[in-house]
Amino acid sequence: MTVLVGFSSKYGATEGIAERIARKLREAGRDALARPLASVDSPADFEACVLGSAVYMGAWRKDATRFVRAHLAVLADKPVWLFSSGPLGFDKLDAQGRDKLKESEPKQFDEFDEALSPRGRQVFFGALDPSVLGRRDRLVRRIPSGHELLPEGDFRNWAAIDAWAAGIAEELAD
Ligand SMILES: Cc1cc2nc3c(=O)[nH]c(=O)nc-3n(C[C@H](O)[C@H](O)[C@H](O)COP(=O)(O)O)c2cc1C
Repeated sequence: MTVLVGFSSKYGATEGIAERIARKLREAGRDALARPLASVDSPADFEACVLGSAVYMGAWRKDATRFVRAHLAVLADKPVWLFSSGPLGFDKLDAQGRDKLKESEPKQFDEFDEALSPRGRQVFFGALDPSVLGRRDRLVRRIPSGHELLPEGDFRNWAAIDAWAAGIAEELAD
């Protein structure tokens, strides 16, 4: 059976993370597919689900949240992992000295924790290319300290993503 790596990505950074996780799972001998969640009818036929979304204003994107809420009962019977692509920048700590990955956990992690008991939940650093942002997202970056909070660049930590995917492959092999 196949592992679904389902994602919601607005500008492609999360899609890249999902594709990388699926590739790592395949290299570890699993059948794995990365698919936009908006195009998946049901998780029923998958052996396991790795589900992720970009985080905007502290939350997963709507189609990802909708997918999980709509399929809670089916997902609860499967091994599930959750991930987000969120914070930007090379610093691990924010201006207040707090762990950026921890501070960037989307509110959906708590919402889905009890219902799904995911095997793992992980935030990854994301990427931002100002030249492709829509008008509203460009405006958000113009607020005071917007450029500091949302710096330009690709901060995806491929080593961390690969290590997380390897852990999933190991658990599925048990
Ligand atoms: C307007 C805007 C708001 C954002 N809000 C958050 C946020 O609240 N928390 C966070 O960790 N990242 C935030 N980000 C960063 C994105 O989550 C990051 O760029 C992500 O990798 C984008 O993924 P995508 O290209 O798949 O949409 C924001 C980015 C923009 C442009």
